[in-house]
Amino acid sequence: MGVRSAVAHLPTRSVRYLEAGSGRSVIWLHAFPLSADQWLPQLHRVPPGWRFIAPDLRGFRGSGPSFEAITPDSMTIDDYASDVLELMAHLDVSEAVIGGLSMGGYVAFALWHRAPERVSGLVLANTRATADSPAGRVARERMVDLLEREGAEGVAREMLPKLIGASLQASQPDLIEAVRELIVANPTDAIRAAIRAIKDRPDSTPLLPRIDRPVTVIHGDEDAIIPLDEARAMAEAIPGARLIALAGAGHLSNLEDPLGFSLAVQKSL
Ligand code: MLT
Repeated sequence: MGVRSAVAHLPTRSVRYLEAGSGRSVIWLHAFPLSADQWLPQLHRVPPGWRFIAPDLRGFRGSGPSFEAITPDSMTIDDYASDVLELMAHLDVSEAVIGGLSMGGYVAFALWHRAPERVSGLVLANTRATADSPAGRVARERMVDLLEREGAEGVAREMLPKLIGASLQASQPDLIEAVRELIVANPTDAIRAAIRAIKDRPDSTPLLPRIDRPVTVIHGDEDAIIPLDEARAMAEAIPGARLIALAGAGHLSNLEDPLGFSLAVQKSL
């Protein structure tokens, strides 16, 4: 199945997105600090009757030839959600399943909070509903310092050991290199803005008991950033949600176990 890359010219800016298939829509929202390309394995396995759309969150991969340069100084998670709603309107998608991994999940919660009528279901992968702890917020500022000193390369070096699960760290050097390339392709402005947006995100826990759409929580049992138990507790707080744990996968479960992830998605659509 062909994956198309397109640029949507919205009133205030342009956004690159990847898409494949046709029918009912799933919008895939990427992790920090990756880009829409994170979803290529899923875009190559779209179930019949579905259209998968994966946008870059604002500023990410912002250096393409037809991409309007953006210097987002102060983004919020809610801003990213507004961007997705704007893209959905542009593409005539009135409602969609929203799938988000980690930061993409934070944006999915914001989108649900803001416009539940546009959300027909949720796939929450390797994400959490809680806000950052005080110590976590301090660590975010340390990450900004690292970014200022060493650019996206420094952030990649710091994050890669946590993004990929321990089992694959040694056996999949190509995967690690591919993720590193996704990270360093991003402008530092976009990375800085996202760190601060994540740091200041609200606690979405109060939303969980009121989510009345089909929800699947997918998690890697070797996730070093968000423990599986936390994902389990999140799933238990959402009425009717089910948890699918992928054995041997870490934080980037859709890249580490693309087939297992796609099968989990197919079961949930
Ligand atoms: C992500 O993968 O999006 C990040 O790990 C999110 C976070 O650091 O909270």
